[in-house]
Order: sequence, then C-alpha cells, then structure tokens
Amino acid sequence: MKYSFFLFFIFIFGSSCSKPQGKKFTIGFSQCTGADQWRQTMLSDMKRALSFHPDYTLLYEDAGNSTEKQIAQIQSLTNRDIDLLIISPNETAPITKAVDAVFKQGIPVIVLDRRIDSESYNAYIGGDNFEIGRLAGAFIGNHLKGKGAVIEVKGLAGSSPAQERHRGLQQQLARFPGIRVVAELDGEWERDTARHRAEANLAALQKADLVFAHNDVMALGVYEVCKQHGLTRQLEFVGIDALPGPQGGMQLVTDGLLKASFLYPTGGEEAIETAVQVLAGKAVRRETTLNSIQIDASNVRAIKAQSDKLLSQQQDIEKQSQRIDELKQTYLTQRNTLYVTLASLFVVILLGAWALYLVRQKQAAYQILAKQNVEISEQKDRIEAVSAQARLATEEKLRFYSYISHEFNTPLNLILTPAEDLLAKKTVNPYELKTNLSLIRKNAYRLLRLVDQMLDLRKTDAGKLLLQAGEQDLVAFIRDIVSDFRRKAEKNHIDLQFIPAQSMLMVWFDREKLDKVLFNLLSNAFKYTPKGGLIHVRVDLCDNRARIQVQDNGAGMNAEEQAHAFDLFYTAPKHFNLGNGVGLALSREFVHLHYGEIDVRSEKDQGTTFTILLPLGNAHLDPTQQEEIPDTRTLPLLLDDDEGTLIPASPAAPVSRKTGTLVLIEDHDELRQYLTTRLREEFEVVAETTAEKGWETILETIPDLIISDVMLPGMDGLQLTQRIKSDFRTSTIPVILLTAKGQMENRIEGTRAGADAYIAKPFLITYLLETIRTALNNREKWQKRYMGDYLTKTENRQEKKFLNELTALIEQNLADPSFGVEQLSREMGVSRVQLYRKVQAMLDKNVNEYFTEIRLKKAKVLLVETNKAMSEIAGETGFSSPAYFTTFFKQHTKQTPSEYRKSPVGV
Ligand code: FRU
Repeated sequence: MKYSFFLFFIFIFGSSCSKPQGKKFTIGFSQCTGADQWRQTMLSDMKRALSFHPDYTLLYEDAGNSTEKQIAQIQSLTNRDIDLLIISPNETAPITKAVDAVFKQGIPVIVLDRRIDSESYNAYIGGDNFEIGRLAGAFIGNHLKGKGAVIEVKGLAGSSPAQERHRGLQQQLARFPGIRVVAELDGEWERDTARHRAEANLAALQKADLVFAHNDVMALGVYEVCKQHGLTRQLEFVGIDALPGPQGGMQLVTDGLLKASFLYPTGGEEAIETAVQVLAGKAVRRETTLNSIQIDASNVRAIKAQSDKLLSQQQDIEKQSQRIDELKQTYLTQRNTLYVTLASLFVVILLGAWALYLVRQKQAAYQILAKQNVEISEQKDRIEAVSAQARLATEEKLRFYSYISHEFNTPLNLILTPAEDLLAKKTVNPYELKTNLSLIRKNAYRLLRLVDQMLDLRKTDAGKLLLQAGEQDLVAFIRDIVSDFRRKAEKNHIDLQFIPAQSMLMVWFDREKLDKVLFNLLSNAFKYTPKGGLIHVRVDLCDNRARIQVQDNGAGMNAEEQAHAFDLFYTAPKHFNLGNGVGLALSREFVHLHYGEIDVRSEKDQGTTFTILLPLGNAHLDPTQQEEIPDTRTLPLLLDDDEGTLIPASPAAPVSRKTGTLVLIEDHDELRQYLTTRLREEFEVVAETTAEKGWETILETIPDLIISDVMLPGMDGLQLTQRIKSDFRTSTIPVILLTAKGQMENRIEGTRAGADAYIAKPFLITYLLETIRTALNNREKWQKRYMGDYLTKTENRQEKKFLNELTALIEQNLADPSFGVEQLSREMGVSRVQLYRKVQAMLDKNVNEYFTEIRLKKAKVLLVETNKAMSEIAGETGFSSPAYFTTFFKQHTKQTPSEYRKSPVGV
C-alpha cells in the first residue's frame, strides 16, 4: 500500500518533470519611441508573435525619441543578460557605436525599421523606404498631372527612413519637371512638431498644392493647421504608414483627408520570428525588405475592409492568446497546487511511515520490556518460592526440634521425677522402689531409642547411611520380630498373626535396618489398635518382589495424614508423635536404601496397611552394599508397656485428710498415672486425658486447683486456662500449667491466659507439691476473706459450690453499679425468690446484706493491701462517690476508710 503511493507520486512528479523543456530566452527590445500608433502596432505585432513562443521573454525599453536615452537603455539591456537585441534606432549614426559594442559581445542583433551605420547585426528588417519615396513621388507627379507645388514634411533628419524616403521622392519627382518642392519642413516624425513647422511656414503652404509628409501623423498635424487657416480646399495631403484603426492612415484616406498613404509594415512579427531562428542557431536572411503598397481612394475600401478584418482577427488572436495565457496561468496554478498537494501527501506519507516505524519500534521495545518484566516477575516468584521454602523448612525444623525436645522431655521427666521422689523419701517400700525403678529403666530405653533414631536420621541427612545387605531368610527374620510382640498382643487381647505365603524366602537385606523398619511398623500398629483388635503381618511374592504387609484394624488415618505419613516435618493437626514422625520417615529411608518401596493405605476408623516391596536377588546392589554385618541388635526391644511399668493405683493412700480437690489433665499416660498416684497422697485427684473432658469435670466438681499440661490434643492447656479464667464459676480456681515447652514466650502465653503458676517439665515433684500448696493457701485466703465462716459451716459440696459461685460473681461485678440481685439470679441460673431463699438458708441473711458484706470486705482488702486512692477504691467497690463510700464505710465499721487504713480492725 505504502509502496504503491510512492510509485504513484514518482509517476506524477516524474512525468511532469520529464517533459522536454526548451531553453528560456530573453530578447531585449530597444524602441526609439513608443508614443505613436505605428510603434504601438509594432509592439503588439511582436507580442502576438511571441505568444507562440512561450519560452521567450521580451524586455522592452522605450527611449522616448531621445538618442542618448536609447544608448543608455541598450547598455542596461546588455547588463540584464539578454540573449538577443532587437533595436529600432532613433538616429542612425549616434546609435551605431552602442550597437557595435553589443554585437561584439556576441549578442545577436536584429535592426528593425531604421538602420545603423555598420554591419554589426545579424538581420535587418524593414520596409523599402527608398521605394516608398519613389512610389509617393510617382503618385504625386501623376496626381498633380505633372504640375504643382509640393511641400515635403520630413522625419527626423538622422534617421534612415527619412533620408531614404526623401531620396526616393526626389528621384521620382525628377521625372516631373513641372512639379516643385517648395518647402522642406523637419517634422521629426511627430504630429506636434509638424504642426509647429506648418504654423511657421503658412506662407509656403498657401502657395502649395500638395503636402507630402514622411508619415501619416505628421500629415495630419499639417492638415489640422491648414484647416485652421482655411487652406484645405486648395491643398491635398499624402502620407506614409497607412495604419489601420480609427486614427490610422487608412481611415484618413477613407475620410478624404489624405489623398494617398503608403503601407509601411512595422516588421514586429518578422523581427520576433527572425530572433527565434537566430537563437535556435538557424541561418536567417540578413536583409528582409517588407513590401509596401499605395492606398488611395481606389483601393482603400477593399484594403481597409481586409485590414479591419485582419485587425479583428488579430484582436481575436490576442484575446485567445490572452485566454490561453489565463488558462496557462490556471494550469500552472493548478499544477503548482497539485505539486504542493502531492508534496504534502508525500510528506504526510513519509511522516506516517516514520510514525509507523516509531510505533513498531516502541512496540518492539514494549515487547522486550514486557518480556523482561515477565522474566523479572518470574525470577521474583522463584526467589519468593525459594525463600518461602527456606522459611518453611526453617519453621519446620524449629518445630521439629521443639517437638523433639518435648519428646525427650517426657521420658526424662519420668526418669527424674520418680528418682527425685525416691531420694526425697526417708523410707521407701520395696513395691514403690520397684515400680519407680521400672519406670526409670523403661524411659531410659525409650530415650536411647530416640537418640538412636536421631542419629540414624542424621546419617540419612548426611547421606552416610550405608546398606550392608546379606542374603537371608526373610520369613524367619520377620517371624522373629513378630514374636517379640506376642506378650504385648496377649496383654491387649490383640489378634497378632504372622502369615507367610511360603516357608522360606531368601532376600538380600540389611538386618539392622529392616529390623528397625518392622519394629516401627509393628509399634505403630499396636499404638493405634484398640484392645481386641487385629494385627496381621504377611510375607509373599508380588511381581517378582518380596512383599511384606503390616495390617491393623485400628484408628486409621484420614487422607491428609496418609499423604504425609512419611514426612519428617509434617505436623498433623493432631498431636505430633515422634514414633510416627521420625520412625516412619526413617523407615522409608531404610526401604529406599534397599531399592524397595513402602506405602500406606488407610481409612479412618477402619485400619491401616503398610506395604513394603523389596527386590529379589542382588543384581541391584553394588559390591560395597553386599557386606553383611553380624546380627547385633543395638537395643533390646523393650516394648512400651513391658514389665508392668504402668504404676497401678497406689495401694491405699495412707493420708488421713485430703487438703483439697484437684483436677489433673495430662495426655501422657505414664506421667498422668504417676502424678495421680503421687498427688493422691495429699489431695483428692480427678485425672483427665483431654482439656475437653477436663472442662466438664471442672464444672462438675469446681475443684480447689487445676493442673494441666499445655500440649494436649484438641483444646490445649492455654485455651483451657482462658476458659477457666473467663467463667465466673471457675475464675477463682488456681491453674498450674505443666509443659515441656520451657521457653519464655510460652510462659508469657501461659501467664496471659491467666495461669497462676507455670512449671516446666522435667520438674521435681516436691516443687510441684509446693506450688500446689501455695496456690491452695491463696485460694483459701480469698475464700476466707469473702466467705469466711460460711464455708466452715458447711461440708455440703453442692452448697460450697453455690457459695463459691455466688461470691465470685458478686466480687467480680462490684465495680458495676448496675449489677444487682436481678442479674445475679440470672447468672446463677435461679429465680430471685430461690436466690433469696437459698442465701437466707445458708448465710442467715438476705442477698443485699451479703452484697454489702462483700463490698465492705473488698474495700477493706483494697485499703490495707493497696495504695489505691479513696476515689479509686470507691469506684472498684461500686460506690458512686468517695463521700458516699466514706459514709457507708463508717456506718458499718465505725471507722472512716482513712482511719481503717491506718489501723485496721478486724481484717
Ligand atoms: C513612427 C515612424 C513612422 C515611420 C517610421 C520611420 O515612429 O515615424 O511613422 O514610418 O517611424 O522610421
């Protein structure tokens, strides 16, 4: 599209430019005078001729009958770089030199009408003046019939036509001896000059018969003077030129003013045609003589008619040529407009192409930028992903270490606590000694196993775990391991079966590692299989591989747990279990070392099956992996509940009076049992495994103290504490949190949740006991402070619970002036009437009185135990103003609050 535009443009432009263009020429024309009609006719003849030669320009200079002026103008024309000079000299001699100079410069010269004195011209064009003079002489002689007086009015003396016409006349008149030229007047070619000469020669005119003037205008000038003087009747007039037109000689002959005139052609047209030939380098005739004819009454009509016609034709031609000029001008204007339009179009196309180019470039740049942007953002995403991964890995590691410490903490606790306990006692009975020592040994083994697993894990991490396989009977090997679990299965009434498909199956495997894998899978199965469940171990061949399956019908896993079963750092929403976490992760590593596969299929509450596939033969093992090590079990496979490590209910606690009721929430069975046994020596203990169950028990018993582990499945210890502390029924019960997470932030969390004490595992049982006692003391103080005597009056648990709740509610809402009996009864879940009746029965006073009592008691505590201002204490105890508080206080205690602060009576 773009290119076709270009082609079009080039065609238009090219075609207009490729037209053959003639050379442009300038012709200089120096005219002796432009004033008279003859000369004007000459100029228009020239212009008409020029109209056929558009490449020629005419520079015209009019000397106004002045020879000097003409010389100067010739000079000026030459300076203007003319290609040719046409000259009609005013006078012959003086002009010759100037024309010679021009001709010498190589500028062609055409002499028109009047001659110069030299040969310095290319062509001469003009009428035959001598002949005209002769024609005139012949006419005069004949017209006057050979007799008469003639006056000759001559042209400018220095001009060649005047001289030649005079000579021609004289030559003819010589033939008529009866004719005399009585006077010669110098009319200098001009009408006015002729008139003046006529005025001056009236006498001669009166005697003359005919006036012959060298041109018609001079003849007319003399005629006018003669007419003035009444001489026209006797005088006749003859002129030269015979110009057409109203004032022309032709008309004068027609009108009878002139007897005759002689056509004197201007030669303007011929001069231009000759100039064109000369400039075209063509040869031209050097002398061109233009013919003349006599115009008189006999032919004037016909000739005038012809000449008028010619004139009108010439006028038409001029008009047409003018029209052509106009059209040419229009054409030029239109052509120029077209050029400008095309040039503009070209510029527009160029600009458009440029803009297009810029847009393309910009688009390309944008594309590059966009690509770079995409790359950068991809890089950013990658970096973010890597850093997120790194962050996740770090977080997982930290979490893992935190759980590891937890996992280490529990057995450590179960070693330290009974050991400490034994040491603290003066006398220990053998039963207690044995159970405590078993607990210690079992947990020491557990620790060892954990350490062993950790070391293995480190080795897998560092790639240092090597396979040392030997060819051995897989069936016998597994049977051996399964038999280790027999006792445990019997104890838990679990149907443990080993079901091999063949009696023997030789496989290349690493005893130590496969032993750990199977021990792990079996421990796991036992952990999640309830009493009466089944655990079946199968060995067979599958696709030319040895297949081992450990199946149970226990708790099972959900899809997510299953998907992450072998992930080391996966933290299932449920309680993390190192036995699973590390054990299964390690098992997978070990199986992979064997070039085998392990996977798990499980269904929630339906059971789990782990499947291991091991390749047969040893083609897949390199020689270093085929160095069997002797069968050394690094750890005795002490199973979790071996040797009755669970401490049975303590044989009859010897303590006479229990000093409080505790609710203990701990999910670790051994620790819970140990603590229960130990604490029951001093307190009533209700033990629970989860916070949810614990909360129910707490609401039921309203215990004197609560001990809870922080890390619990489901609701954790911190959430439980928060719940306890935000419920008015339980808010005053002290909470002790136990946890392996000993870091400061956990303590802060615990304290924020409202825990009264925070004990990090492993702890000394004596320390725990001390903490319990202190907390109970504080609680007792509170109870005494507010409920005092009332508590001692009743042993009824329900009543105590009611009183506790009632007092806590009142005490907590004292600052709220709107809190009254109405709200109290609503919160307690009884009607107003019931509340009044119950309080009256228990405390022997009505509720309002009890309100007042608590209010006063709280005020007293705040006065003595704090430095708070009176207004503040008044506010906290529900008085609208300090003044009212003072009055009220004095009324009931006989002391002002300030006096009481100084010397408290009856606190
Ligand atoms: C015009 C004129 C003519 C005459 C010619 C001679 O200026 O006087 O009338 O024929 O010049 O050169």
